[in-house]
Amino acid sequence: MALYSEKVMDHFRNPRNVGVIEDADGVGEVGNPVCGDIMKIYLKIADDTITDVKFETFGCGSAIASSSMATELIKGKPLSEALTLTNKAVTEALDGLPAHKLHCSVLAEEAIKKAVKDYYDKNGIAYDAGLFSEEEHCPHCAE
Ligand code: FES
Repeated sequence: MALYSEKVMDHFRNPRNVGVIEDADGVGEVGNPVCGDIMKIYLKIADDTITDVKFETFGCGSAIASSSMATELIKGKPLSEALTLTNKAVTEALDGLPAHKLHCSVLAEEAIKKAVKDYYDKNGIAYDAGLFSEEEHCPHCAE
């Protein structure tokens, strides 16, 4: 069986939503504690909805594929929905990742949350701090 699913290979070879949004409403950058790679997410937000999203990453192929899929999953969605996106949902949408690559999919989830938090902070919007707990790392990574 191939190590990577066809969907992973597709999103790795043709990543969706790569780039920068210069006038983003929220920006989130995270580093992966496991491998040291970095992910940055840019959001445009109107009426509590993500109208555009772009990402930049120095992560590996799995990080590129999972970020591409994650951006597709949140584009056009309400912020409340984006905040419930988990790396598990992203890896399921990609038809799975090898176990030793699951930590790569956590980058997108955490960067999206951080970008939403940045938007809330910049606009003085109240939120439940528990939504953005720093504790959330990949259950497979023991970090
Ligand atoms: Fe670092 Fe995949 S090995 S993001």
